[in-house]
Parts: sequence; structure tokens; C-alpha cells
Amino acid sequence: MLLIGSLPLFLLAAPFVIARPSLLPTRAADKLINNVTIFDPPSFYSIPRTLYARTVLLETDGDEKNVLLATWENYSPEPPYFPIHRSTDGGSTWEEISRVTDQVNGWGLRYQPFLYELPSAFAGFAAGTILCAGNSIPADLSATQIDLYASTDKGLTWSFVSHIASGGVAEPINGDTPVWEPFLMLFEDEMIVFYSDQRDPNFGQKLVHQTSADLLTWGAVVNDVAVDVFDDRPGMTTVTLMPNGSYIMTYEFFGAPEAAFAAYYRISDDPTKFDSAPGQVIRATDGTVPTSSPYITWSPVGGPNGTLAVNAASDTDVYLNRCLGAPNSWTRVSTPESASYTRNLRVLPDGTLLITGGGVLSGSDNSVTTSSMDLSSVTVAACT
Ligand SMILES: *[C@@H]1O[C@H](CO)[C@@H](O)[C@H](O)[C@H]1NC(C)=O
Ligand SMILES: *[C@@H]1O[C@H](CO)[C@@H](O)[C@H](O)[C@H]1NC(C)=O
Ligand SMILES: *[C@@H]1O[C@H](CO)[C@@H](O)[C@H](O)[C@H]1NC(C)=O
Repeated sequence: MLLIGSLPLFLLAAPFVIARPSLLPTRAADKLINNVTIFDPPSFYSIPRTLYARTVLLETDGDEKNVLLATWENYSPEPPYFPIHRSTDGGSTWEEISRVTDQVNGWGLRYQPFLYELPSAFAGFAAGTILCAGNSIPADLSATQIDLYASTDKGLTWSFVSHIASGGVAEPINGDTPVWEPFLMLFEDEMIVFYSDQRDPNFGQKLVHQTSADLLTWGAVVNDVAVDVFDDRPGMTTVTLMPNGSYIMTYEFFGAPEAAFAAYYRISDDPTKFDSAPGQVIRATDGTVPTSSPYITWSPVGGPNGTLAVNAASDTDVYLNRCLGAPNSWTRVSTPESASYTRNLRVLPDGTLLITGGGVLSGSDNSVTTSSMDLSSVTVAACT
């Protein structure tokens, strides 16, 4: 059976049918999308206009199951906000449904949004509540504040929940003290927020996390990657669960011997203990080391180990591994999606990979685009 493309026209004309994609049968090859524009910013936006796209797939309940939401850094007139756009057809079409605005600082929500759906009831919020973490920063960039917002109505409205971490001036300069790039993940009845931290005087930048049982108070700052050379800068944590129960995190590593900002990874049974796991570089079987702002996810497609997928800003490709992260089994595979700074990866219900970008750091007319690829039809290195 086919998805949207084969529906009779009278069904396409009835929006309530399209809004229930979970009721529709799926087959990967029929629903691939190629460079769909989610948002093309107006020319009065400040350059780079858009950057740093993030998506979430709503998976928990009923009518909203399989709905996608997207957000990004949006260089609108002051104060900036995180736009929320929705797709009910697997990423083919999008519409703006809301804006996450700064409700507490008077600064705007400027950088590094992250969307997360609660997979189970937590901290007084029902399963299916959507969390949005991001960096609230004033127009003069004099401070950084990672804040948490929640939506209990599938992204239509948003409320401030808590301040997570406060830092100094929003400049990526060693010796300055900003916080950056939150990534949320529920683990054993605690929410973990991973982020990049320049506040420790012993490290230009390190990667840390804090945990919370109530989403209101956040525990001690715990190191995840802290390198003993002050100028080294590990950055941009993303994490995914593998089918053998271990967690894998990726990060960029300025200071890596292989390349500036080489994509690195660590594996741990406990995602609060990455600090004691060894870091290793991602080097594809063709020798490529992807660099800058990596993102990792896992798809069940591709055999008993499924497929780990990583991408980075250095090229348009993905780096796939069907060996639970074994070092010599990363295969570079092309995608239909342009390269972006911190390009987002999201696995759709049928296992296809949605790749979403907000443009490049040096971009002067970025837009937000998305494409998908079928992971079952690609050739990936065997485990060695
Ligand atoms: C799954 O990954 C493990 C660890 O790399 C490997 O030993 C095993 O052969 C893989 N299984 C398959 C079916 O490829
Ligand atoms: C999962 O596989 C990885 C190998 O890539 C290994 O490091 C880790 O210990 C395994 N986890 C468990 C729980 O067996
Ligand atoms: C995707 O579309 C944008 C906007 O039309 C274009 O600039 C870009 O080159 C396209 N990317 C690819 C990989 O075709």
C-alpha cells in the first residue's frame, strides 16, 4: 500500500484524514521527500536568517501520532523566538502553528532550540507533553540562559517551566563563560539535560549534564567530556540509545589530532557516566573524518543492530554503522539534503531517516529544508 501519494483525491481534499497519518499504511520507498522547504525567511531577517534546525516526532498518542514539529534559530526582528512548524504528512508540507517566546527574561529565545516529547508521564506532565529547551540571550549577547518550556497541547501553546543553566557573554571564546546547546533525554525517572559549558576556568569548553526529577530544580553539573588541555573544545552533545541497551553520544572535538572539530563518540551503559568512557573518532571506511556539529540517531532498519546514523556540517552525507558503533564500520553514504550546521536527524515510524537543516554558519540566505532517505536500500560495511 502507498501513503499520501496514492490516496484518492477525495481523501486528499479532507484535511482530517491527512491529519491522522498513523492510520495510513506505510512503505518507506513511497514516502521519501527531497529537499522540501519548511521555511524560506524574508529578506529583512538578519543574516544568517535561519540556522540549527531541530525536529520532534510525536509518538505517544492517538490523533497526533506521527505528527512532526520543527524549529530552528530564527533571525527575525527583536526579540527572536523559536517558531514551531508542523507536518502531518511525514514532512512533505509544513505550516507554522505557534512560536515559543521568552516569557521571563525579556531577551528573546535566540540560539540552539531543542524539542523533546515526553515518552511517559513525568514531573506532573502527561506522556506526549512536548518540551522545548533553548538559549535565551539578550540582543547585546551579554548573557546566556538555557531555559525550559513545555506544551501540553501538542505544540499549540507554550509555558515557561524552569531556568536550567546561566552563563556569561554569548561568544565562543575561551575564557568567556557562556552555556550552549541543550539536549534533553529522559533516563530512569530523571530528565537529563546535556549541554556545552565554558564556565569552568580549567576548560575552554567542556560537555556536562544536569538532571532533574521535577523539571523545576536541576542537580549538580556533572562532566561528560572534559579534556585536560584548556584550549580544547568538545562541543554539541547528542545521544541515542542502541538496541543492546548502551547509549552512544557524539560531539565535535576542537583539539582532536585527526582534524579540527572532528566528530567523536563515546559509548556507555549509563548516559550519566560518559565522562569515564573513552572517546574515539568517527572515521569512515573511505578515510573521511566528518567535522563540526555532529548529530546522531538510531533506526531499527538494517538488521538486528539497526543502523546508527551520524552527520556533520562538513558534507552532505551520513555516516552509517550497523555494528553498535564498532570503530571500523562507519560507511559514508550520500543523501539528497544540503549540508547544514548541526543538521538534525530524525527516524520516522517506518525507519526512514529525516534530515533537516537550517543552513550553514557562513550562509547569507539560509532557509530550512528537509529530505528523507531509505536506510534499508543502502550498503553499509559489515562488522569487523
Ligand atoms: C552487531 O554488532 C556487533 C558488535 O559490533 C557485531 O559483533 C555483530 O556481528 C553485529 N550483528 C550483525 C548481525 O551484524
Ligand atoms: C553494546 O555494544 C557496544 C559495542 O559497540 C559495547 O561497547 C557495549 O558494552 C554494549 N552494551 C551492552 C549493554 O552490552
Ligand atoms: C535545496 O533547495 C534549496 C532552495 O531551493 C537550494 O538552494 C539547494 O541547493 C537545494 N539542495 C539540494 C541538495 O538540492
